Amino acid sequence: DARPTAIVAAIDEELRGLAAGLDAPQRQRRAGRDFLLGTLEGRPVVLVLSHIGKVAAATTTALLLGEFGCGRVVFTGVAGGLGDGVHVGDVVVAQQLLQHDLDASPLFPRWEVPHSGRDRFDTDASLTEALAAAATRALAALPPPAAPWPLPAGAARRPPRVHRGLVVSGDRFVHGPDQGRALRAALPAALAVEMEGAALAQVCHDFGVPFAVVRTVSDRADGSAAVDFARFIRETASVCSEAIIRGLLRA
Ligand code: ADE
Repeated sequence: DARPTAIVAAIDEELRGLAAGLDAPQRQRRAGRDFLLGTLEGRPVVLVLSHIGKVAAATTTALLLGEFGCGRVVFTGVAGGLGDGVHVGDVVVAQQLLQHDLDASPLFPRWEVPHSGRDRFDTDASLTEALAAAATRALAALPPPAAPWPLPAGAARRPPRVHRGLVVSGDRFVHGPDQGRALRAALPAALAVEMEGAALAQVCHDFGVPFAVVRTVSDRADGSAAVDFARFIRETASVCSEAIIRGLLRA
């Protein structure tokens, strides 16, 4: 497949390293976004910042597929950990994505995307495996100085892990003990929460294009985090994200 791979992130720092390393870069502006075309690890890519939230992610994805002809889409960024054992610094690779704030009941079951007959979308299995393998290699290779970010009180200092499973998305930064607890109770299978992945998934599904989502866990979605969010993204998530994406493209 000669079509480019789209690499999408919500936050500038998450793409900065990849953008700086892009060969033969070419910038095209659409809908207030800069699409950076070029090659990375010898592969054609389009890098773009979606900005935050489901609508921003959907707009960006529709442009990547409709205007730029991308053949696969990978989202990289950070997420709040929900699952037991999903700690700050771990990486979550989505196998399914669901919009936790979608509720058209009683017309449709809670979470179901109206007229699609489903509440979750599966990521592409082989792309997801390749991403998880790249994440495992990246975590093993990250230098120790990337590890001692400010951990929340009580969080175990163990080597970071890669998890695979359900990731949920919604237009809310989940914080404070009640929001996190409610989400864990409603969707016990959810490993992590973020604000874009399930929207990207729905658009890719409609276009029939394979996609995958990888997230570094920046907080526990419970407000207990003493983590400095901006610092975590700058020092840890961006490094992790660049290593994972480069590893994926090299594979
Ligand atoms: N991205 C990173 N942490 C998050 C959280 N707690 N809620 C939603 N999106 C996030």
